[in-house]
Amino acid sequence: MLIARLIICVILLAASCSGISAASSRRTSRSSSTRRARSTETSFSLSGSFPSIFLGDEHMNNPGQQSALRAKLSMVLDTVEPHYSDALHRVHELREPKVASLLQELLLLTREGATGSGRHLEASIAPAGAEAAEEDAVGLRRRSDRETSSPKPPKPLSKPLSTLPSPQSLVDWSHKIGSRLAQLPAGTSFPVLRRLLTAVVVRAWLDGAGKRLTEVEEEAVSGLFVQLYMLHRRGAMNRGIMDYQHVSKSGGTSWCHAAQLNGCTTQRFDRFFVCGVSSFDDKVRWVDGAAHTRLTGAEPTRWYLHGTYRSEGAPGCASRAAQMLANRWTYYRNPLRRLASHLRFILLHYKRFMTAQVEEGVEKSADFFTTYAGANASFWSSVAPAISDNYFARTLLGEAAWHAPVGGITADTHLAPARLVLMQYDIVVPLESPTELTSRLLAFGAGWPVSYTDVHDKNITALQEMFDFDPSPHMPSSDEMDILYGRQQIDMDLYGLAVLIGQLDYLVYSTAAAAGVVPWDGMPDNVNPEEDNVNYRVACGLLRGPGGAWSSHMVHRRRRANGGAAGRETRVRRRSDAASLEETSRRDQTG
Ligand SMILES: *[C@@H]1O[C@H](CO)[C@@H](O)[C@H](O)[C@H]1NC(C)=O
Ligand SMILES: *[C@@H]1O[C@H](CO)[C@@H](O)[C@H](O)[C@H]1NC(C)=O
Repeated sequence: MLIARLIICVILLAASCSGISAASSRRTSRSSSTRRARSTETSFSLSGSFPSIFLGDEHMNNPGQQSALRAKLSMVLDTVEPHYSDALHRVHELREPKVASLLQELLLLTREGATGSGRHLEASIAPAGAEAAEEDAVGLRRRSDRETSSPKPPKPLSKPLSTLPSPQSLVDWSHKIGSRLAQLPAGTSFPVLRRLLTAVVVRAWLDGAGKRLTEVEEEAVSGLFVQLYMLHRRGAMNRGIMDYQHVSKSGGTSWCHAAQLNGCTTQRFDRFFVCGVSSFDDKVRWVDGAAHTRLTGAEPTRWYLHGTYRSEGAPGCASRAAQMLANRWTYYRNPLRRLASHLRFILLHYKRFMTAQVEEGVEKSADFFTTYAGANASFWSSVAPAISDNYFARTLLGEAAWHAPVGGITADTHLAPARLVLMQYDIVVPLESPTELTSRLLAFGAGWPVSYTDVHDKNITALQEMFDFDPSPHMPSSDEMDILYGRQQIDMDLYGLAVLIGQLDYLVYSTAAAAGVVPWDGMPDNVNPEEDNVNYRVACGLLRGPGGAWSSHMVHRRRRANGGAAGRETRVRRRSDAASLEETSRRDQTG
């Protein structure tokens, strides 16, 4: 079955995959520098913040909401299952021996674990040699790495994590977990573990009928959360590069722009390239060219690579993952809004493209107004299968699922693996969450004081003005939209998980902030992106890299483009040790 062959990687089927790294700055990382009290946050009470974060003020004492939250937390705990059933290979974090043994010991939640025998069960992982061999060759490995043999499946857990009781003593459990976390290697941020452990704490709070934790419990749990934040910070700093997943119409372009404003460098940033690394061959694959021709009689115009796989020459998942040593961060947006936004965007541009074909006398051309304009759900399903059917799930699962026909993505087969992929992103930012939350996620997750809220790229209103065309009247009728909306169940479920992940991370980051931890020394609370030298000051926040932002193997070129928020400054990155990332300035097809 196709899904069994899925591996963890970041494939950007929508628009682009990105290498973003620290900008040039004279400041080197001073990682020791973190505890600096911030007066505004001294009154923070950890468990006192649970109701407003997880239930919303109006639902604080609502038993129905509490049990819904409990069910979601159980779901989070069981997101690791596809790793043990071998539905997903290469869930790197869970194969890390110390993480693997902690999970085999059921997060120390069993009575046996709680007695603190200190027994570290042997993790059932692939022999170290196998992984090493694979990574050695990555520089040269190409797409054939999709077919490399899968690592040995891990031994299943004796019980699903959701079936375990809450810790008998949160204090003891926090201390024991803390000593295990202290043994974890640098270089990874352990997002899955962080979310599992936070979910355990919030569930324990629900078990206590939502009463505040005692002072000693607060202290022990806060210490654990600060430690989780330190792991994240260390992991991000050690890598110094971010691989973000661009989910179209969900803030992908703006993410790249925010990275630029925070002083990161990438291969290229402008309205069309959005941090794409050309050699990855990640292109826009929104429209099925053959269906377009069948339904309109016209030649395909743009973005018509649905059904066309990346070129054989482009680096595949394993080599890409190893080359990028990547963080994985992404925005999430309510899938129904994403869908409507996507259709409007295509209508806006296809009116131009198709009209141009007619005007240029292309032999096979068609009238936009009798084809795409006002088209029904079945038309859209044919020309844009991914867009009209669980786009997030397809994006998360990569090529193995992306090109499936409408209806080919099912909850039984795809939901659990997609959830586990989502859990592995270091930062997940739900676009519709309150600004206070999203700013915290960026400030503490990436160390970026210039937040997404300062950036509004691909603003549809501005585009409408530019092209003097309003696509709204040409959207499918509301009945037809309802058909399309009704199909996004798997994505809605994933979005629910994304929102909860955002809340769990917010809790950890807020605890760290209250303890006086700052992402990096000297980070301003906020900065005006219009200000001069902001990107030199911020230097990509946590992503300045282990050697500081002036790493010797990077050459930076600074170019100023005229006007336009989107292209103020572009830098080019070269890495002598990653020849395949060399930019080719090949024009991507994103615009
Ligand atoms: C949808 O529109 C196409 C024309 O594009 C038409 O052939 C088809 O019958 C319509 N389907 C429904 C269910 O209305
Ligand atoms: C989008 O652009 C319009 C017109 O240029 C502007 O009025 C509006 O505030 C912009 N929206 C956002 C979210 O930036």
